[in-house]
Amino acid sequence: MNTEILVNLAYIGSSILFIVGLKMLGSPDTARRGNLLSSSGMLLAVLITLLDQNIIDYRYIAGGLLAGSIVGYFAATKVKMTSMPEMVAIFNGFGGIASLLVGSAEFISGVFDNPAFLGAIFLTVLIGGVTFTGSIIAYGKLSEVISGKPYLYKGQQFVNGLLLLAIVIIGINMLFIQGFISSEQTLILLIALAFILGVLFVIPIGGADMPVVIALLNSFSGLAACAAGFVILNNVLIVAGALVGASGLILTNIMCKAMNRSLANVLFSGFGAAPDASDDAAQEQGEVKPISAEDAYLILEAATSVLIVPGYGMAVAQAQHTVRELGELLEENGTEVKYAIHPVAGRMPGHMNVLLAEANVSYDVLVEPEDVNPIMDTVDVCMVIGANDVVNPDAKENEGSPIYGMPIIEVDNSKTVFVLKRSMASGFAGIQNPLFFKSNTRMLFGDAKETVSTLVSEFKG
Ligand code: TAP
Repeated sequence: MNTEILVNLAYIGSSILFIVGLKMLGSPDTARRGNLLSSSGMLLAVLITLLDQNIIDYRYIAGGLLAGSIVGYFAATKVKMTSMPEMVAIFNGFGGIASLLVGSAEFISGVFDNPAFLGAIFLTVLIGGVTFTGSIIAYGKLSEVISGKPYLYKGQQFVNGLLLLAIVIIGINMLFIQGFISSEQTLILLIALAFILGVLFVIPIGGADMPVVIALLNSFSGLAACAAGFVILNNVLIVAGALVGASGLILTNIMCKAMNRSLANVLFSGFGAAPDASDDAAQEQGEVKPISAEDAYLILEAATSVLIVPGYGMAVAQAQHTVRELGELLEENGTEVKYAIHPVAGRMPGHMNVLLAEANVSYDVLVEPEDVNPIMDTVDVCMVIGANDVVNPDAKENEGSPIYGMPIIEVDNSKTVFVLKRSMASGFAGIQNPLFFKSNTRMLFGDAKETVSTLVSEFKG
């Protein structure tokens, strides 16, 4: 059997590992094994590609590997759990620029003879460039290096239209005419336009929608890699890129559905441009009723069912371990405890699931909003721990609200609601929450971890 067949057989093997691994990520029980399986597929693909010796000198590869590993190691160990979305944004950007460089190198080498091949180079450079600068802007917005407000200006659509037209002209020149500007100029222009498009694509989108944009950019980075696979005729890169492209799109769709918004609305509505909830707005809704942790303990102690609803604040406070301890103490006290997870609670897909899994909360006690909402009136106490937008009743009651239509966890229908947060500040959507003013709501002000620790101490006597 010749080497090419062996290499391709190994690539098919790694593709199968990717696909089976991805499938296993769909359930918490099999997710860890799925992750391991996909990583093994990647290791196999990398090893075979290196052994194939079709590429460049090993010394360059070793140098790149070392530099990348050092940067990756420090970035991954230093990053806070709450900054994961920024890290994913940067990684997407690196994926995009890597594909752009591959496409550019092939174009400069000049070894191509048909428009299909040039088309693959064009797409690699274009999508890679858009992904790179788009991801940098997404990173800047999430880390608040630049304002998270949507940047809208007059004539925006016109400018975007001109930009797209220029890209189409460059594409035609690159693919068919190859001459009205030199090939180097074509490439430089294409890269510049792709970079500008990436910036203009993300800048009008508000910080609140950045997680959706990051999922979309993740999909773009996969498509760029897939196109790069066609450029260098590498089958496993085509498959892996297509998988990332498709799964990123599916994830984007899931996130849009969870917010009851279309992708077009996320990308073009400038969500978040409205002024933030002000103190005046808070006043208009009436007075809130604070409660001490000691008094909350007495109510919890007498409860037969407690529903814990975690949100972004639990991640900020890193309260998940203490929350699990409280859950266990409640169970020992004869209370039924469940955790309701909203699909967009936190700042990244699966954020709450990851935190609770880290704290060893059993998957059996996790419930979805659609399971628990119909029986919410039977729940004695809902403990909202650092969640805000995902329990905002305006989403179902106030047609004027920016989050109107978003499915929520309807904690306001339970008998008693405890809201654990530090202040009356708004959540990611920047809007006031009428839940805080409802007659059955009690505010447990303070850092979530400290509050839950006090409750744990009360239970321990
Ligand atoms: P948010 O609505 O962002 O509210 C988080 C709350 O946590 C804040 O009101 C904050 O109030 C509180 N908090 C912060 N630090 C805290 C601490 N140390 N202790 C206690 N509380 C603390 O969170 P959510 O309900 O999870 O909603 C997520 C938001 O992100 C939604 O708007 C969603 O649409 C958006 N989003 C998420 C995703 C994904 S994939 N997760 C994707 C797109 C959009 P204080 O400052 O008063 O403490």
